[in-house]
Amino acid sequence: MDVVERAAALRDYAEQTASCTKCALSEGRTQVVFGSGSPDADLMFVGEAPGFHEDQQGVPFVGQAGKLLDKLLGGIRLTRADVFVVNVLKCRPPGNRDPQPEEIAACEPHLFRQIELIEPKLVATLGNFATKLLSGRPAGITRVHGQEQEVTLGVRTVHLYPIYHPAAALYTPSMLKVLEEDFARIPALLERAVGETSDVSEKPAPPVLEPDPESVQLGLF
Ligand code: URA
Repeated sequence: MDVVERAAALRDYAEQTASCTKCALSEGRTQVVFGSGSPDADLMFVGEAPGFHEDQQGVPFVGQAGKLLDKLLGGIRLTRADVFVVNVLKCRPPGNRDPQPEEIAACEPHLFRQIELIEPKLVATLGNFATKLLSGRPAGITRVHGQEQEVTLGVRTVHLYPIYHPAAALYTPSMLKVLEEDFARIPALLERAVGETSDVSEKPAPPVLEPDPESVQLGLF
């Protein structure tokens, strides 16, 4: 898919999702918070669920945690326009309570479809819920933050990078430091992930190796 097709497919999917009633959260929401950013992003962030402000504005991470996310992005010279930001749940849980297993199960096809359409090369999971869902493992964020791993989602392999949720770092300076350190590794991880997953047909053909006379003499060819 080229950029234009990808953007159109994502817009269509956002329109379909806007009327989702797959779980009871649809009854209390102001609107579905689909996600925002570049449809062509190589880097995707997956948070937990919309809060009050996100539910009001229809955009993920616009509250305090979002301001910190913007600052952390700025620290690695990125803006929201360079990435795509989504949540595990697209609708706000009442009183910002934790997502329930049946809500996650109902909503996960939306997340998987977004990943399929955007084809990010690196997916940074923010906190426990996104990390456990996309890694398919029970290990929590305290144990696995900062440890990149490869996961197969549908037919694609993506690089997963679990990091703390910005909300966890808002009031705990020691956690903020860890989050900043984990963020600082993103540019290098992204470069590697983009290099590894780029279409082989776009790469220049490998040079044809001619044996040099000395190697031939030494019997290396
Ligand atoms: N926390 C999240 O996980 N997502 C948001 O969109 C806002 C806060």
